[in-house]
Amino acid sequence: MTTESASPGINPERVEEIATRAFTYIGGAAVSGLIYLGDRLGLYRALAQHGPCTSEEFAAATGLNERWLREWLRGQAAAGLIDNSGEQFSLSPEAYLVLVDENTPASAIGAFDSFPELNRVFDELPEAFRTGQGLTYDDGGPATARQVERLLGPWNRSALVSEALPKVPGLVEKLQAGARVGDIGCGAAVGSTAVAQAFPNSEVHGYDNSVHALERARNNIASAGVANCHVHNSDDEPIPQDESFDVFLVLDALHDMTRPDLAMRAVRGALKPDGIWFIVDVDAPEDWHENLQHPLGAMLYAFSIQACMSSALSSPDGLGLGTVGLPESKLFGMLREAGFTRMARVPGLEHPFNAYYYAQP
Ligand SMILES: C[S@@+](CC[C@H](N)C(=O)[O-])C[C@H]1O[C@@H](n2cnc3c(N)ncnc32)[C@H](O)[C@@H]1O
Repeated sequence: MTTESASPGINPERVEEIATRAFTYIGGAAVSGLIYLGDRLGLYRALAQHGPCTSEEFAAATGLNERWLREWLRGQAAAGLIDNSGEQFSLSPEAYLVLVDENTPASAIGAFDSFPELNRVFDELPEAFRTGQGLTYDDGGPATARQVERLLGPWNRSALVSEALPKVPGLVEKLQAGARVGDIGCGAAVGSTAVAQAFPNSEVHGYDNSVHALERARNNIASAGVANCHVHNSDDEPIPQDESFDVFLVLDALHDMTRPDLAMRAVRGALKPDGIWFIVDVDAPEDWHENLQHPLGAMLYAFSIQACMSSALSSPDGLGLGTVGLPESKLFGMLREAGFTRMARVPGLEHPFNAYYYAQP
């Protein structure tokens, strides 16, 4: 630091500020590793059960090594994720919602699933920067589908049916009466399954081209015991173009697709003239500069390079939208080109980074 501060034209305070930021990011990544371990070893759940407790009591309760636990507990307290009073550590009810309970929109723990596997992609990405070619969701093995399911599953399970769908005019009435429903980019079918369970008169068809996600989807559907939910590999079984669907969903998937324009046309061709498409996508600003002020802006760009834009560039004709690549005006323009004439934001739905829309032919 002393050399730079002595150099003409270098502002030492700015050097320090940038260094602090850089260390904050490596700190975030390192602490993410500890959160991953906490999840993988069941430590948050165990702390909720056994806390307040000392590291010795925690070791006795979990059967894990006291010295390692002590370091983890102190580190998690330093990170502000768990509470301590002296040598007693505990998990607050609020932290329980974020780090243990996966049936609440507050859940964040799924973001840390498969942390080591997902970060291996950084070895592949230099080549992507050279060639332009991204990686599909399946290129990294089954980890991505698992992480996406745990990341997005809590909202899909706990808010899609109860909070979101009722805010779309006329949608719940269709589902109650018995609708043919499609879910494009259904992933592990958590959303499809929730809709099928809530609306037994309806029949839900999920479409995805990730074999790992589809395998998870089939297991999820089987373990939920829902007979009115089915999934299809859209590469082998494209969405039927017969205007037979009453409702379509797309939950956080358009910006990941190589050709969202073609997906939109496929949904248009599948929907009845009075059908409704419920769309969830990242609430991207019209002007990218707004991302500089967004508290999650840097993270969204990182997700884009790690997963979303990479997926959207995984074929040579990919449009490469990426995580923050589908602001409202672009979405609406593309929907119009695909043959939709009516579209709007769903009012009264809040999310830290998603926006909600519906479109009709
Ligand atoms: C971020 S995930 C969302 C999954 C799911 N909707 C959810 O909410 O958990 C995006 C999904 O889009 C799928 N996808 C990407 N391109 C696709 C395409 N062309 N056709 C069908 N699915 C696609 C991916 O395989 C992935 O499962």
